[in-house]
Amino acid sequence: MKRVAVVGATGAVGTELRCVLAQREFPAESYRLFASARSAGRRIDWVDGPLTVAELGPHSFDDVDLAFFSAGASISREYAPLAREAGAIVIDNSSAFRMDRDVPLVIPEINAKAVRSHNGILAVPNCSTIIMAVVLWPLHRVHPIRRVVVCTYQAISGAGARALAELESQTADVLAGRPPTPHVLPVPCAFNVFSHNTPIGEDGYNVEESKMIAETRKIFGDDTLRIAPTCMRVPVRRVHTEALSIEFETPITEQDAREILGTAPGLEILDDRAANRFPTPLAAEGRDEVYVGRIRCDPTIPDGRGLQLICAGDQLRKGAALNAVQIAELLSPGSAASERKRGPT
Ligand code: A2P
Repeated sequence: MKRVAVVGATGAVGTELRCVLAQREFPAESYRLFASARSAGRRIDWVDGPLTVAELGPHSFDDVDLAFFSAGASISREYAPLAREAGAIVIDNSSAFRMDRDVPLVIPEINAKAVRSHNGILAVPNCSTIIMAVVLWPLHRVHPIRRVVVCTYQAISGAGARALAELESQTADVLAGRPPTPHVLPVPCAFNVFSHNTPIGEDGYNVEESKMIAETRKIFGDDTLRIAPTCMRVPVRRVHTEALSIEFETPITEQDAREILGTAPGLEILDDRAANRFPTPLAAEGRDEVYVGRIRCDPTIPDGRGLQLICAGDQLRKGAALNAVQIAELLSPGSAASERKRGPT
């Protein structure tokens, strides 16, 4: 499992993926970077010297054991089956296969064992789903959750590298007194807050919201979990923040929640009421952990069964690239994850 391809290597998630692979010293024998014709020939610095980006094509996977895909769902639909036929295992960051029955949808802190039953393609959940789920799961294991109301404050880079560039240029435009002109996102993103830029279904929920519901149910293996999301974009470069109101089956105290979340993998509590310091996008940027805070009981839910909190997670990192590499580590004996599991010798 050592010859690795990165599809979408020049994009927002692809760039973070390259960074995470290098930082975690992923045990690859070789790397191949793919993007569109626009980027073909571009040189990118890599651990052992620069690599040249190639245009993705039907024969890109001839000598590849493991392929990370982060070039959008249509590219995944077209090329991931070709990669699998060529003998590669695909770890896909897009929504193309997430809900397929034979495709494990994996957050290693929650359902690591699901990687055992893959059919050549494994899927990384949506970024907002991951950031919410890593917080909900440790609570749900001890105190079953009945219902979640979640509001997201999502970073612009979640819409890709071009959207992030648009935020930066529009911010400069507004500060210089020029009107912001949207090209990538449907409305001006600088100094604005707007409903998530995915299409709205007949039920009134946008695609991002529907993903949060369906994917969380699949990952938790619980089709009855009730989730009511509202997904918004805010003029933040990276990191999604989410406000959660959680109703449990049985009473839970604030202290219970702190103890559970304080020892759960992948989480860090940042909850200093005296200093008014809680999770923020800037605090969580570039971090592997999802920050949790504002932990408090919800008095509007009877019998002490309600909890409110906020969380903030780097959606390019734990929400995409890091989660993908963690899945690869579960599949690769000798990787950082399996070394950590074995412990020091
Ligand atoms: P490119 O940079 O050449 O356009 P983001 O999510 O940040 O927008 O990134 C999307 C990624 O998907 C980029 O690496 C982009 O490459 C890549 N991509 C877009 N279209 C294609 C395509 N037709 N074939 C291969 N890669 C593509």
